[in-house]
Amino acid sequence: MTSPAGIPRHVAVIMDGNGRWAQQRGLSRLAGHAEGVKSVEAMVRACREAGVQYLTLYAFSTENWSRTPAEVAGLMRLLEKFLRSHTAEMHKHDIRLRVIGRLDDLPLAVRNALRRAMQATAGHTAGQLILALSYGGRDEITRAAREIARQAAAGAIRPEAVDEAMISAHLYAPDVPDPDLLIRTSGELRLSNFLLWQLSYAELYFTDVLWPDFREAEFQAALQEYSRRQRRFGGVRDADAQPGGAA
Ligand code: FPP
Repeated sequence: MTSPAGIPRHVAVIMDGNGRWAQQRGLSRLAGHAEGVKSVEAMVRACREAGVQYLTLYAFSTENWSRTPAEVAGLMRLLEKFLRSHTAEMHKHDIRLRVIGRLDDLPLAVRNALRRAMQATAGHTAGQLILALSYGGRDEITRAAREIARQAAAGAIRPEAVDEAMISAHLYAPDVPDPDLLIRTSGELRLSNFLLWQLSYAELYFTDVLWPDFREAEFQAALQEYSRRQRRFGGVRDADAQPGGAA
């Protein structure tokens, strides 16, 4: 699998602004999330058409559990509905569904729907849709460190053998290449604990557009901006560069 020249292989998105979008219209926050799902659908389609192979969406953070029970339950229902209604389409387009995060925290119905969708699409190779659910970047790195420490304590590895590759190998989806482009909507200029390890060399794209309004045209603008940037990975020019060679 390769992406066309100038097209990011992996796009990661912090989908922000559903609540404000709803508030501006006098609607409930859940109505904003429901409209946000339509942007998810548009994004999946646009990535497929553009040749982006990996799309990671920050759908629910470890911090999002502190929202009201009604909002959490509503988000979980939307997620379940999305999985039920889109598995066939992912199947048709050879897209594999994956999840990163604390899967065990999720309600049983959502876990079951995720398992079904992941099993149904497990062999697909044209692209991957990766949902970050009950996900936190520090949590992910902490879990990796704990597992490596456990192996070291058991004598299976020497502390000197711990390197970046070993830490990467203990993250949720070690085979997925790091994101080339991070998009955050709604004007906030933060990473909010998203893919802290993997975003080291990503191009960052921030837009004031609220997530429910982020559709095909906004994504094309982000792709254009990305293609204009020269990626240096902390040293050499893009054509010769390898991630990890930072000065
Ligand atoms: C941030 O907006 C958005 C979320 C916390 C949830 C994102 C979820 C979806 C778009 C729907 C479900 C996802 C899938 C993959 C089907 P916010 O509520 O923080 O907005 P605000 O900052 O304006 O309040």
